[in-house]
Amino acid sequence: MGRTQLVRLFQKGNSPFVRRCRSFQTINDTDSGGLTREEGIEYGDYRSSMEIGRLRGKTAIITGAGSGIGRQAALLFAHEGANVAVADWNFSAAARTVDAVKEFGGKGLAVGVNVASAEGVEQMINKVEKTFGGLHILFNNAGIMHSEDDDVTNTPDSVIDKTLDVNVKGVIYGCRYGIPAMKRSGGGSIINTASFVAIMGAATPQIAYTASKGAVLALTRELAVVHARSGIRVNALCPGPLRTELLMKFLDTEEKKQRRLVHIPMGRFGEAVEMAKAALFLASDDSSFMTGASLVVDGGLTSAYVTPE
Ligand SMILES: NC(=O)c1ccc[n+]([C@@H]2O[C@H](COP(=O)([O-])OP(=O)(O)OC[C@H]3O[C@@H](n4cnc5c(N)ncnc54)[C@H](O)[C@@H]3O)[C@@H](O)[C@H]2O)c1
Repeated sequence: MGRTQLVRLFQKGNSPFVRRCRSFQTINDTDSGGLTREEGIEYGDYRSSMEIGRLRGKTAIITGAGSGIGRQAALLFAHEGANVAVADWNFSAAARTVDAVKEFGGKGLAVGVNVASAEGVEQMINKVEKTFGGLHILFNNAGIMHSEDDDVTNTPDSVIDKTLDVNVKGVIYGCRYGIPAMKRSGGGSIINTASFVAIMGAATPQIAYTASKGAVLALTRELAVVHARSGIRVNALCPGPLRTELLMKFLDTEEKKQRRLVHIPMGRFGEAVEMAKAALFLASDDSSFMTGASLVVDGGLTSAYVTPE
């Protein structure tokens, strides 16, 4: 297409390309892509961008979407046009996320599920397939960090078992039942939430959590390779320390917070919405040649030796 033709189309304003440019303009005009940082919420008027969204026509399941990263991802994925199944063992929290999705015209379904239960996860996948007619995106994000998780000599077996059940088996069960569903839908993208602690050691031990997140990285790579030729991509998201309930409950004094912040070159905790944006990249065709990767979003933490004063 020549430049004159392109200019005419732009002036006419009815090509998909132009509509997309305008939509980006709208999004960029708002803070954090329409999601404000202060409260970790909420959303702007997404109606126009939903028409051309990056996940239009897709169905996504997001586990742990009752709060934190999962909730922000649910809002963002719905804003990008996906049908979103908001899964959480806290059903009322999931329902609140769905209410927020519906407020801007998005499509959401609240599902109560314990990801550590194979039966529960199978039922979740069946329900979502039945409701929306397929599955294209699975964000295995639910995770726990137990308050009694400690060093290797002090962590009780019950804490190790509970942590591995949710953080590792939860991902395995999601993939066990999600991958066949995705194959029935012609392929898709899986995102497994790991952590920076899968990559670097810390003198603040949480041995069960660390082991669980290392396992998530390892199993993500194998799943990616095994299913690569079935049109299924599998990537891991490695968040740095975030200002979400999960971590802030753990770092409950200013001193504990500062002990962490000194190691982050950017000098602040990350926000859940910043992880949601990275997850959106992995979920969408924008990352179409990526599989088996670990996407680290950590304010520079894992690259740092000495941080700025
Ligand atoms: N917050 C951080 O600093 C941080 C850093 C690195 C990785 N992560 C990981 O990110 C993911 C999301 O964490 P977040 O910070 O948003 O935490 P969060 O506590 O705000 O959200 C986790 C959600 O998962 C749900 N959940 C927990 N166990 C579940 C289960 N068995 N079945 C179904 N739902 C369950 C909870 O109800 C909650 O709504 C977790 O996997 C976590 O390990 C978090």
